[in-house]
Amino acid sequence: MRETHASRTRPARALWLALPLAAALASACKPELPPGGYEAVSHRPPRVMPGWSHPDPPAVTPGMGLGGGGPKIVARNLPAGVTQAMVDQGQELFGQVCTACHSAGGTGSTAGPALNDKEWLHISGAYPEIVSIINAGVANPKQYPGVMPPRGGGNFTPEQVGQIAAYVFALSQQGES
Ligand code: HEC
Repeated sequence: MRETHASRTRPARALWLALPLAAALASACKPELPPGGYEAVSHRPPRVMPGWSHPDPPAVTPGMGLGGGGPKIVARNLPAGVTQAMVDQGQELFGQVCTACHSAGGTGSTAGPALNDKEWLHISGAYPEIVSIINAGVANPKQYPGVMPPRGGGNFTPEQVGQIAAYVFALSQQGES
């Protein structure tokens, strides 16, 4: 009888011993307060930023190359050997690197000229010229403050450069019928 009673109370007694120990440990972990306590901070109302949580969607540019997510452009006046499939591939690749300076859809930015028109600074706009200038980059810009590195700084194969050039060519023909 005694034994069963003892074995029943032992775990309970152990718990009572553990509780003050846990309390002591918890109080030891409390961060030290500076003398006099923390300085009182008056209530700061949350800053309201109008339009921040619901920004307007970006304008849709035909040929927008955001990782290929944008609408595809339908190429016109493609030279022999250049296909719509190349243009589509090129649009994906253009979105990886070139949009940094030439913007989505080649609309241009303060870092690089627009490529979606027939105005050219360095070339006359023929497909082989576009291939060469992408490969070479532009070390001596005519209007823009920065240079364009070879292949825009991207690591593209000659085949991929051909595809990007196809897309740039197609962009330049957008206004044509
Ligand atoms: C770091 C910025 C930058 C990047 C990235 C860049 N470019 Fe350029 N690009 C320029 C600048 C600057 C020029 C020359 C502007 C000038 O002459 O004033 C230029 C010129 C060009 C031209 C000739 C335009 C003309 O009017 O003659 C083409 C074509 C071109 N870039 C295509 C591309 C393509 C395709 C890519 C991606 C592979 C690319 N660029 C990446 C900055 C950039």
